[in-house]
Amino acid sequence: MKALILSGGKGTRLRPLTYTGAKQLVPVANKPILWYGIEGIVAAGITDIGIVISPETGGEVREKTGDGSRFGANITYILQEEPAGLAHAVKIAQPFLGDSPFVMYLGDNVIQTDLGVFLEDFKARHADALILLRPVPNPSAFGVAEVDRKGRVLRLIEKPKDPPSNLALVGVYVFSAAVHDAIAAIAPSARGELEITDAIQQLIDHERPVEARELSGWWLDTGKKDDLLEANRVILDTTLEASNHGSVDSGSEIVGRVHIGAGTQIRHCTIRGPVTIGENCFLENCYVGPYTSIGDGARLVEADLDSSVVLSGARILRVGHRITDSLIGQRAVLTTTQKKPKALRFLVGDDSQIELS
Ligand code: TTP
Repeated sequence: MKALILSGGKGTRLRPLTYTGAKQLVPVANKPILWYGIEGIVAAGITDIGIVISPETGGEVREKTGDGSRFGANITYILQEEPAGLAHAVKIAQPFLGDSPFVMYLGDNVIQTDLGVFLEDFKARHADALILLRPVPNPSAFGVAEVDRKGRVLRLIEKPKDPPSNLALVGVYVFSAAVHDAIAAIAPSARGELEITDAIQQLIDHERPVEARELSGWWLDTGKKDDLLEANRVILDTTLEASNHGSVDSGSEIVGRVHIGAGTQIRHCTIRGPVTIGENCFLENCYVGPYTSIGDGARLVEADLDSSVVLSGARILRVGHRITDSLIGQRAVLTTTQKKPKALRFLVGDDSQIELS
C-alpha cells in the first residue's frame, strides 16, 4: 500500500496567504497542516508516500517537509504543472503508484480517526474504492454520496441543489489500481478539471465495488479562513499538552494547557489555554486567550487576542482593541501610535480582509 498526498492546487480561497506560500504549510497549532496527514498515514503503517506539488509552492513544500526521514517515511515529490483536478493529480502520479493500491489524502484536510481501520476494511472487502463520508448540515456545499443500506455507493453528486443525503465526501480515499483505467475514461468537467468524483462514478457505473464508511471523529478541511481557525480550535482542544521551554516572569499568569517554545520570553502576561506559542517569541503586557496559536519569532506588546492564528515573525504592538477570530500572516505588523486611534492607516495586501467590529 502506498499513499498519495495532494499538495498542489491554487488555494484561491485562502488568499492572500497563498500568494506567498502553500496553503498546506499554513500551521494549525504551530504544525503545518500537511504534516498531520503524513503522520496519520505513517501511523497506519504506510511509509511509501508521494506528494503532488505545484511549480509555485512545490519548492517550499519540499524544503520544509524533506525526504520523509523525520516522519519515518520515504517521500517522493511529483510535480503537477497545472492544477487540473484531483483525478489529474492521480494520473500524473501513476509512474510512482504503479499497480499498488493507495490512500489518496488531500493535503489541506485532517481527520481524527485512525486510517488503519479503513485500510483493513478496504482489503477485506476487495474494494476498488473506499470513500469516507461525514454527515454535514449543508450538503449542497460538498460532493455528496447516495449510499445503500450495506454501505455500497450508488451515486456521487458534486454540490447538489437537492442533496439525496447529508453525507459529504471527506478528502481521504482508498483506491485499487483500477482507478487508473477509470481516470483514463473520463473527460474534464465543466470547470475544466479531471474530477475524482467522476472517476469514482465511472467505477460505480462499471459495477466495480465502491464502498463507503462514515467517519465518527472530526474532519477538518482547512481551505478557508474560518475552517482553518476551527481546525486550530479542535486540534488545540484535543491534542495540546502543556509544556514550558521558554522563560515566564513572576508577573505572568499561565492558566490551563499552554505550550511555550524554547527561547520565548513572557513578561507581565496572562495566558489562558489552550494556547501554543512557538520558539523565540517575545510577549509583554499581553492577554492571550483560548484557542490561539502564535508562530516562531512573533512579537506581541500590549496585545489582547484570542481564537486566532498568528504566523511566524508577525508583530502586534499596542493595538488598543481585542483581536479575535483572526489569521495574521507571516511578518505582518499591526500597530497603533496612540491608545484610542482617530484614524486607521493600512498597508494591506491583495485579497486581504479587515473587519472592524
Ligand atoms: P482544493 O481545495 O479543492 O483546490 P485548490 O487548492 O485549488 O483551492 P481553491 O479551491 O481555494 O482554489 O484542493 C484540495 C487539495 O488538493 C489541496 O491540498 C490542493 C490539492 N490539489 C492538487 O494537488 N492538484 C489539483 O489539481 C487540485 C485541484 C488540488
